[in-house]
Amino acid sequence: MRRQRDGVELIASENYISPAVLETMGTVFNNKYAEGYPGKRYYGGQEFTDAVETLAIERAKKLFGAGHANVQPHAGAPANVAVYFALLEPGDTVMGMDLSHGGHLTHGHPVTYMTKIFRFVRYKMKDVETGAMDYDEMRRTALEVKPKILLAGFSAYPRELDYAKMKAIADEVGAVTMADMAHIAGLIAGRQLRNPFDDGFDIITTTTHKTLRGPRGGMILTREAELGKKIDKAVFPGFQGGPIMQMIAAKAVAFGEALKPEFQTYAMQIIRNSKHLAAFFMDHGVKLVTNGTDNHLMLIDAVASWGIAGGEVERTLDRINITLNKNMIPDDQRKPMDPSGIRLGTPAITTRGMKEGEMDILGNFMLRAIEQRGDDAALASLRSDVTAFCQQFPVPGIDRHC
Ligand SMILES: Cc1ncc(COP(=O)(O)O)c(C=O)c1O
Repeated sequence: MRRQRDGVELIASENYISPAVLETMGTVFNNKYAEGYPGKRYYGGQEFTDAVETLAIERAKKLFGAGHANVQPHAGAPANVAVYFALLEPGDTVMGMDLSHGGHLTHGHPVTYMTKIFRFVRYKMKDVETGAMDYDEMRRTALEVKPKILLAGFSAYPRELDYAKMKAIADEVGAVTMADMAHIAGLIAGRQLRNPFDDGFDIITTTTHKTLRGPRGGMILTREAELGKKIDKAVFPGFQGGPIMQMIAAKAVAFGEALKPEFQTYAMQIIRNSKHLAAFFMDHGVKLVTNGTDNHLMLIDAVASWGIAGGEVERTLDRINITLNKNMIPDDQRKPMDPSGIRLGTPAITTRGMKEGEMDILGNFMLRAIEQRGDDAALASLRSDVTAFCQQFPVPGIDRHC
């Protein structure tokens, strides 16, 4: 708790949940087995589990305009795997974003078991200076490899994808469209980024714990209710066992919070903060991948900006209580454990109430630390400044007054 209160969390996939969500995660729902779905369970005694899972489902559908929601995936990775199992036969092809261009491990990294079963083909940005994707190349590849799933989604891409163009390509080759919105679900729910369903996408998968600010968990949404039946079967009994009911209850609470108008204000401020911080860095000669951001995150080319690898920036900032992660940049020549870049984002600090003015303060802390990285005394002094600064911004669920 002290670490979270006394430090600045800039990891783009992290957030602070509300006291209500936190409390729900620790309830006796944990004690109940509820294999199956509301109204169709394998064990008795489901009057409260049915009510709570139905509430989570209904809120999720409302939040994203979905025809069907499965709230049982234990996390984001199993949600993606369940969709693959629902729609693919062994050997079938998925087209997803190149991993060094922002895609996620579950979109076909060779270290994952999914690549032993299915074939993953990648698409990339056309121009890393703007982040524009190469949709012509995507179409050419799709016509050639005939994917069963065209997958949009990323963990480290600071721009928006053109879902309508992707849907047109998918339709041409008969592919199902799937958007893994784990990182930006809260920005879509908060009406700040485009909802892929509005462009006809078939499936959305997401985690519930990043911008969406819920418990750690996953979820699968479909636009058409019919497709939801296949998804439900793939999640249970196809892949998982009993649902984690206290997490589903906490998802219901978090979705209730995200349906409130305040959540839209929160989502808007996340992007404002992110754009402001990105502009601050660029004004100070820092090289951002795609030269800016349209969402909650940004990627910095640390080698180009300061002549040091991402890991050294991560370690330096750890010493002043600012946490972010080293990250690959597009077509990175360095190794995944020692990449050229860093990734940072604003969801957690926005939850603490920081606004544009605080972004300048944070940016200054970071630049000073990087500049003075060999000077232990300077870093120690910066660390107490950072601690004093962030103690002004209460952490929900930790500080009593929020
Ligand atoms: C785009 C995307 N999909 C899936 C996941 C996996 O989620 P989890 O860590 O909950 O399994 C992540 C997490 O980093 C992600 O960024």
